[in-house]
Amino acid sequence: MAFKPLVFSGVQPTGNLHLGNYLGAIVKFVELQNSHDCIYCVVDMHAITVWQEPTELTRNIREVTAAFLACGIDPKKHIIFNQSQVAEHAELAWVFNCVARLGWLNRMTQFKEKAGKDRENASVGLYAYPNLMAADILVYRATHVPVGEDQKQHLELSRDIAQKFNNDYAKSIQERGFGDAFFPQPEPLIQGPATRVMSLRDGTKKMSKSDASDYSRINLTDDADAIARKVRKAKTDPHPLPVDEKELAARPEADNLVGIYAALNGSTKADVLGEFGGSQFSAFKNALVDLSVAKLGPIGAEMKRLVQDPAHIDAVLADGSARAKLLAAETMNAVKDIVGFVRR
Ligand code: TRP
Repeated sequence: MAFKPLVFSGVQPTGNLHLGNYLGAIVKFVELQNSHDCIYCVVDMHAITVWQEPTELTRNIREVTAAFLACGIDPKKHIIFNQSQVAEHAELAWVFNCVARLGWLNRMTQFKEKAGKDRENASVGLYAYPNLMAADILVYRATHVPVGEDQKQHLELSRDIAQKFNNDYAKSIQERGFGDAFFPQPEPLIQGPATRVMSLRDGTKKMSKSDASDYSRINLTDDADAIARKVRKAKTDPHPLPVDEKELAARPEADNLVGIYAALNGSTKADVLGEFGGSQFSAFKNALVDLSVAKLGPIGAEMKRLVQDPAHIDAVLADGSARAKLLAAETMNAVKDIVGFVRR
């Protein structure tokens, strides 16, 4: 059966949206609006799999929403909402808790990393997180999921869950007229030159909201001065930029800055080296400051403006949630019928 193309993705409201979130995901969200129907979700229920201070969580939900809007996602043509306003995500996640196998979840590398050594003390939610993520996507029967590289394994699990549900309930799915597959196999859309943006202090570590040094990242809310300062202080090596892209492999800091430039500019690393190969970092950094300020400055300013009007943000989320709920309820009703629940 052919499924209608639909894009779904989620961003966690856990603070400090940075250049890595922007280039690794949000840029793609914006682009996909021209070719697909899109649903973009602030996944607040995922956020509380690790402790969140309630007032900060509220602020962060609004901040991610502001980032979506400031980056150019159109909440009228597409859907922007927060997960907890559509209860069907949690409902379908329960069904998926009963479809997914312990063995599948035991392989998830993100759980191992986040739970760390003290696994006994990790929340059950953190362990079941990938099942909720599968529900996020499949409650809309979405077909395409723009995500960073680190979410590939979770996407594969979503596909496995969709397939096992389709197999386990094949007869019931047929009998109720849904053909031979109720859920699609959602595909990851992983992108461009700087999918993995690295720390500005260490080119071998991912740019992260939890790095102790604020100089390691460019936050989306940084103003022009902060952006310039951080780029100028970014770690480099003593050599001029290479002409040949292959040489970047052994120079993580150079590779990262060239990748960031390419991604912000919508070009490739080879293009950037065509222009700056042989130059000193000082000259390249001047150009990178100009480009970063030109691209990110207006986004940060717009985010700051938007978060000052929480009523407006909350109205966007309420409208998006109502529209999302209509779609999700339709899927959930069908799932209840397929599983054999009695409903009104
Ligand atoms: N797990 C994703 C992350 O940490 C966020 C997420 C939750 C998501 N649900 C999703 C992404 C559904 C894509 C689709 O980045």
